[in-house]
Amino acid sequence: MTTPATIAPGLRPVRKDALGAEPAKPRPRPSLFSRRTRLLGSENAFRIGPQIKALEDQGLKVIKCNLGEPDFPLAAHIAEEVKRQIDLGLTHYCDPQGILPLREAIARTVARRRDIEVSPDRVVVFPGGKPPIGLAQQTYCDPGDEVIYPSPGFPIYESFTSYVGARPRPLHLLEESDFSFSGRDLAPLINHRTRIIVLNFPSNPTGSVVSREQLESIAEVIRRKAPANARIYSDEIYEDILYDGNRHHSIASVPGMAQRTVIVSGVSKSYAWTGGRVGWAVFPTAEEATVFKNLNINYFSCLPAYNQMGARVALESPLSRAGIARMCAAFTERRDLMVAGLNAIPGIRCRRPGGAFYLFPNIAGLCENLGAIEAHRRLPVKARGRTSPSTLVQMFLLWRYQVATMDRRSFGRIGSDGLHYLRLSIATGLDDLRTGLERLRAAAADHRGFQAFIQEGEHPW
Ligand SMILES: Cc1ncc(COP(=O)(O)O)c(C=O)c1O
Repeated sequence: MTTPATIAPGLRPVRKDALGAEPAKPRPRPSLFSRRTRLLGSENAFRIGPQIKALEDQGLKVIKCNLGEPDFPLAAHIAEEVKRQIDLGLTHYCDPQGILPLREAIARTVARRRDIEVSPDRVVVFPGGKPPIGLAQQTYCDPGDEVIYPSPGFPIYESFTSYVGARPRPLHLLEESDFSFSGRDLAPLINHRTRIIVLNFPSNPTGSVVSREQLESIAEVIRRKAPANARIYSDEIYEDILYDGNRHHSIASVPGMAQRTVIVSGVSKSYAWTGGRVGWAVFPTAEEATVFKNLNINYFSCLPAYNQMGARVALESPLSRAGIARMCAAFTERRDLMVAGLNAIPGIRCRRPGGAFYLFPNIAGLCENLGAIEAHRRLPVKARGRTSPSTLVQMFLLWRYQVATMDRRSFGRIGSDGLHYLRLSIATGLDDLRTGLERLRAAAADHRGFQAFIQEGEHPW
């Protein structure tokens, strides 16, 4: 029971509890930022940009193997269409779901390549392939729901789980299995709280691909174990970047799976058009597409219509296929050079990826040889928690040898302790890659330099 308090006129009574105590004053929140905001991760490939710039400002040439951005120009037939549409005045607000001619082209292309039916009312266009990742987690997950995603994997999958209050369930992929997986690996992670299962083939950061048989076994497990309202989020942004005659397979092509799969792709990788900011998702139902259209209205309103018209040409012009083939041929040459070169460096072991444009060498031996494992063990607790031996090697390569790479932690932090890998993007010219290899070879033999680098300890990590 509360006791009425005597109060001055005009003031509200202070309520007391049954024991006559005044309730605790609400404590001010220590941080300016919400808890959710503090939980959001990031993509380090962008975050090391200022460090690279600092080195370049000193007049040093940095070999950039950090960013997943094809180093080819946008094809002329696409660029011309964008310019033409600007001249025609297509510079105003447009359909927040994506302009119809582009959604029709996406529906036709996705349907033809996957042998499924797709209607334009199930397509939503986004500013890139990245935004639907967080939007899907916001849309399908309540706090406590679970998101299964590959680890190592594109960092944004894990980054958003905590932000939306979902539970991250990393599916740890093994080098011995070529960083790929089948239904048997996925099954133990699925339960009644599963809401999203992320697939990403060809994969960032490992370049792994998947066979039709693997997808059938994954589909069988999902059919058997996943709740009916769980969604497969199939990130197929590297669908065109394939080597050695590999074909792209989508889980949506497996019977019964299109009804529960969100298929995602875009122009960034296939058409070397990262600055175009055009990506898309095909949803299982028009109802879901309408929800995402409303998210677009809330966040972005719409995307530049002239870029969308360019994307339509990218998808439908016969000239585009030749451009993709030339790009893949160049990536193949670089991959072969780099895989051979990396494997010749003591302490490094590198698989040949079947797709995407990344190498993901195991550097456990290198960490050992340089003394990175011991150096990491001796770091102050806070710095140790923020880093790993491969982070120290990554920083050494950047600051002492000007080769920008990414560490294992940048591709899923949870459960990454004791795993020693780097990601190298081969979306960089052959000459630069040759120079990068020479520098890596020299760095790998520079035990003393590494120890001095750690002693100086002045570098951000
Ligand atoms: C797996 C994966 N998904 C999505 C994206 C985002 O692509 P976009 O630049 O179109 O937003 C990337 C970019 O690196 C990626 O690697």
